[in-house]
Amino acid sequence: MITLTICNHKGGTGKTTTSINLSAALALSGSKVLVVDLDPQGFLTRMMGQAEPEVSASSLMLFESEISAAPPILKLPTFDLIPSSPALSTALRKLTKPTDVLWAKEYIQTQIHGYDMVILDTAAAVTVYSLNALVASDLVIIPVLPEYQPVIGAEQTYQTVKMVRKSLNPGLGASKFLFTMVDGRKRNHHAYRHYMREKYQDDVMTGIVRTCTTLSVSSRDGRTVYDSNPHARGAIDYANVADEISTLIQQKDEATAREMDPERERSSTAQIGQKTT
Ligand SMILES: Nc1ncnc2c1ncn2[C@@H]1O[C@H](COP(=O)(O)OP(=O)(O)O)[C@@H](O)[C@H]1O
Ligand SMILES: [Mg+2]
Repeated sequence: MITLTICNHKGGTGKTTTSINLSAALALSGSKVLVVDLDPQGFLTRMMGQAEPEVSASSLMLFESEISAAPPILKLPTFDLIPSSPALSTALRKLTKPTDVLWAKEYIQTQIHGYDMVILDTAAAVTVYSLNALVASDLVIIPVLPEYQPVIGAEQTYQTVKMVRKSLNPGLGASKFLFTMVDGRKRNHHAYRHYMREKYQDDVMTGIVRTCTTLSVSSRDGRTVYDSNPHARGAIDYANVADEISTLIQQKDEATAREMDPERERSSTAQIGQKTT
C-alpha cells in the first residue's frame, strides 16, 4: 500500500481537483484507492457530494488516541473516502505536542487495509494535519500553477517535504511538482515551467494538467471528470499522470526489493553477464 500526499502551501493550485481526478484515474486503471480529506474546509468531501459528517465519521478519527470503531470509510462509485469535518479546525488547539505529527501514519498502518493507494488531500497551510500527511507518506505531489505565487508556495512546500524526510520520515520517496491549469498560450507559463525544470529537473513530473473547463465546472454530486466527459483534456491529462505515478511506484518497489535482497540483485546481474558473454 502506497500513501501519497497532495500538498502545496498556496491555495487554489489544483490540490483537490488533483486528489479527486488522479484518484479516479488510478482507480479506473485497477487500483483500489482510499482518499482521505484532511482539509478542515472539506471541499473534496463536498465535491464528492457528501454532507458534513458527524465528527465520529470524519477524518478527525485519525487523530484520536483511543480507536473505538472501524475507519469511517464511505464507499463511493470510483474510490472510497474518509470525509473531513470542520471539527478539524477546532481540534488543532489540542494537537500541539511534537508527537502529534505521528497519528496519521500509525492509523493508516494499523487500521487501513486492502487498498493499493491512500491519497491524502491537504489544506493550503502548514498545519499538524499536513505534517501528519507528509510523515505518513511514501510519495508527495505538489500541484503548481506556473505563476509567481503558486511557484513560491510550491518551492516552500518542497523545502518542508525535505525537512520532514530528514527529521521525521526517511522513507519518504520522491516529491514531484505537477503543473496544473497550464495554458499553452501564456508566455509566463512557459517561463515558469522552464525555470522549474532547470532547477528541479526530475522532480518535475513529465505529465502536465492543462486548463480544462470540465475540471473547472466540476460538480458537487460526486462525479469525476471521467463521469462528466471522459474525452476532456483533464481526463486525458490525469490518466497520463496516473501512469507516471504507477511507474514511480514500480521503481520504488524495485529499489526496496533490491535493498532487502541484494543477493538476488547480484545473481540476476551475474545471469545477465553470463548471457551476454
Ligand atoms: N486543470 C484545471 N483547469 C481549469 N480549472 C481548474 C483546473 N484545476 C483546478 N481548477 C479550478 O481551480 C480552482 C482551484 O482548484 P482546487 O483543486 O480547489 O485547488 P486547491 O485544492 O489547491 O485549493 C477550482 O475552482 C477548480 O475547479
Ligand atoms: Mg483544496
